[in-house]
Amino acid sequence: MSSETILILGGGGKTGRRVAERLMAKGKQVRLASRSTTPAFDWTDPSSWAAALEGVDAAYVSYQPDLAVPGAVDAIRQLSKLAVEKGLKHLVLLSGRGEDEALAAEDVLKASGASYTIIRASWFFQNFSESFMIDDIRTGELVLPVGEVREPFVDAEDIADIAVAALTRLGHVGRTYEVTGPRLMTFRQAINEIGQQTGRGMRYKAVPADAYATMLEEAKVPGDYIWLLTYLFTTVLDGRNESLTDGVFQALGRPPRDFSDYVRETAATGIWEDLK
Ligand SMILES: NC(=O)c1ccc[n+]([C@@H]2O[C@H](COP(=O)([O-])OP(=O)(O)OC[C@H]3O[C@@H](n4cnc5c(N)ncnc54)[C@H](OP(=O)(O)O)[C@@H]3O)[C@@H](O)[C@H]2O)c1
Repeated sequence: MSSETILILGGGGKTGRRVAERLMAKGKQVRLASRSTTPAFDWTDPSSWAAALEGVDAAYVSYQPDLAVPGAVDAIRQLSKLAVEKGLKHLVLLSGRGEDEALAAEDVLKASGASYTIIRASWFFQNFSESFMIDDIRTGELVLPVGEVREPFVDAEDIADIAVAALTRLGHVGRTYEVTGPRLMTFRQAINEIGQQTGRGMRYKAVPADAYATMLEEAKVPGDYIWLLTYLFTTVLDGRNESLTDGVFQALGRPPRDFSDYVRETAATGIWEDLK
């Protein structure tokens, strides 16, 4: 697929930034779009969408904050329709594994008539370094409402590689890649690995969901974000995703990256150091 301008929705995010860097390295024209770009693109304001899609050939779509939130399916329906009207040749949707609402969003994209590729991902490695968990990890103790459930964490680098392949090469049209990393791990095991690699004594503490919600309320986290985190940790992380897939291999012809490689490279940046 020889797209001229590729739109990246959420271009500053964990996956969008990596997709944009790869496309630019290939000499592609890239347009990043989010609330802080010009023109601004805000998922909560559909009137802002048309300007971002104007003159674009293809798009990488990472919805905010999560396809599980009320209104997400409608937003993907409207965006897909607009993309077809604007003549976009291809859409790559980032979806979430084990989320019923994400499956509904995938269905509306498929029904829209747009050419598509879906990347249905498990939890990212980068949640440990580029998301809300980073502050806890820096203090040396991560507290979450998850026990010994195992998750096949996946590298956002692999997701970006798949998105770029789908946006630039033939052969990924109409495909849904369900992607996981190569290992099932508990949060405790993940934190232990980070602790070993950083040489810091890191702890993992599992708490009941209501205690976790109270903790977030006390930290003045907005209510809808508390709802989302509680949903993800209690509903999606209930064991339903305790299996590996070969989605990365299907898309790229190589195995997924291992958590240990991510931990070694990320620890070397110093991002998990105690800031005190
Ligand atoms: N994290 C995971 O483990 C995981 C796993 C599977 C699927 N997913 C899916 O991944 C998607 C998120 O992708 P990501 O992690 O790459 O992104 P991210 O890191 O959460 O993205 C942050 C980006 O989104 C933009 N943004 C925030 N609110 C926005 C809004 N209302 N309208 C437009 N842009 C907005 C921000 O820029 P501005 O501040 O400039 O707006 C920023 O560029 C979600 O749909 C989630 O369901 C995540």
